[in-house]
Amino acid sequence: MNQKVLVTGGTGYIGSHTIIDLIENGYEVVCVDNGSNSDTSSLAAVKDITGIDVPYYHLDLCELDGVKRIFTEHPDIKGVIHFAALKAVGESVEQPIRYFRNNLDSLINILDVATQNHVEALIFSSSCTVYGDVTHSPVTEETPLQEAASPYGRTKQMGEQMITDSLKNSSVKSILLRYFNPAGAHASAKLGESPVNPAQNLVPVITETAIGKRKEMTVFGDDYPTRDGSAIRDYIHVVDLAHAHTLALRYIFEGKQQVSTDVFNVGIGNGLSVLEIIHAFESQTGEKLNYKVGPRRAGDIMAIYSDYSKAKNLLGWEPKLDVNDIMHSAWAWEKERTGRQIQ
Ligand code: NAD
Ligand code: WQD
Repeated sequence: MNQKVLVTGGTGYIGSHTIIDLIENGYEVVCVDNGSNSDTSSLAAVKDITGIDVPYYHLDLCELDGVKRIFTEHPDIKGVIHFAALKAVGESVEQPIRYFRNNLDSLINILDVATQNHVEALIFSSSCTVYGDVTHSPVTEETPLQEAASPYGRTKQMGEQMITDSLKNSSVKSILLRYFNPAGAHASAKLGESPVNPAQNLVPVITETAIGKRKEMTVFGDDYPTRDGSAIRDYIHVVDLAHAHTLALRYIFEGKQQVSTDVFNVGIGNGLSVLEIIHAFESQTGEKLNYKVGPRRAGDIMAIYSDYSKAKNLLGWEPKLDVNDIMHSAWAWEKERTGRQIQ
C-alpha cells in the first residue's frame, strides 16, 4: 500500500508542485489549506496532470479540532509536509502578531497532532531568510544564523527551534528544508505561482510586467558592490525544490536519518544578479522588459546563495533545471493564467 502524506498549504505554490511529485513517486496525498493565499484551481491542475483527485480539507490549521479531525479520518498518515504559512516579508513587519499567530499556532497544532498519532516524518518549509544578513556565500547549514530581518523570518527561526525541541524525545523525525529563491512553474503550464495576494518576488513581477499587468518594474538598487551593482540570489526551480521534499520523506521512511531533526539547504548553488535574471528572461522569451533602476528595497541584503552539498550527499538531491527553464516555464504559465483571467 502507498504511504499516506498530509500536505499542509497544499493548494499553494510550492505545496501543489510537491503534491505532483509525491503522486508521481507513489505516495498517497491528503491536502489541507485555508485558502488565505491560494484556491483549489491548483488541485484541479494536479488532477489534470496526474489523474488523481486529492482529498482536500478547507480549514485553518490554527484550529486544533480541525487538525485532529484530519487524523481521525486518516489515521494512516505517516508523513506531514508543513508548507502552510503566511510569507510576505513586508506584511509581516506591518502585522507581526498576525504572522506569529498564524505561523506558530499552526505549527504547534501540527506538532501536537503528529506526536499523538503514528507520524514518522515531518518536513518543514524553512527559508534562507534564517541566515539573515550574511557576509559570505555560499552558505552551508553550519553558517551561523543572524538576527532575523523580519517577523516572518523570525517565525522560520522559531519554527525550526520549536520542531527541534518538540521532537527530541518523540518517535517523529523531522527535516528542515531551507529554500533559497523558488521560481518557475510546472512544465505543462497548467500550474504555477498564482497568489491571491499581489506578487512581490522578482520572477512573477517580471512576467506580470512583460504581459502588461504592470506598466513597468523597478530594479531595487544597482549600487551594491556586486559584478553589475544589482543584488545576487539563488533561484531554484520549483519542480526541483518539490522533489527535495519527496527525497527528504523517503530518507526518513527508509530509516536513514540518525538524528531527530536535520536541516538541508535547497538551492541551485550559485548566485545570479537581478539584472542577469532580467536579461535571461529577455533572451529566453524574446520579450523586452520595461524596467527602471530605483533605490534599494529596505531590508534587502546584497548577496546570498547556497551550498547544497549536504542535500546532495545525504538525500541524493540535485537541481536538474536552470535559470533558462525557470524563465521558459514562468513565462508559459503567465501567458496561460492571463488567458484564463481574460476569458
Ligand atoms: P503560498 O502562499 O503559495 O502557500 C502557502 C499556503 O498556506 C497558502 O495556500 C495558504 O493559503 C496556506 N495557509 C497559510 N496559513 C494557513 C493556515 N493557518 N491554515 C491553513 N492553510 C494556511 O506560499 P509558498 O510560496 O508555496 O510557500 C510555502 C512555504 O514555503 C511557506 O511556509 C513559505 O514560508 C515557505 N517558503 C517560501 C519561499 C518562497 O519564496 N515562495 C521561500 C522560502 C520558504
Ligand atoms: C529577489 C531580488 C530584490 C522585486 C524573499 C524573502 C525570503 C524568501 C524568498 C521566503 C532582490 C529584487 C525584487 C522587484 C527587484 N521567502 N527585486 N524588483 O527578497 O531575495 O527573498 O523570497 O522565505 O525570505 O525575503 O526575493 O524575489 O523578493 O527578490 O529588484 O520588483 O530581486 O531586491 O534583490 P528575496 P525577491
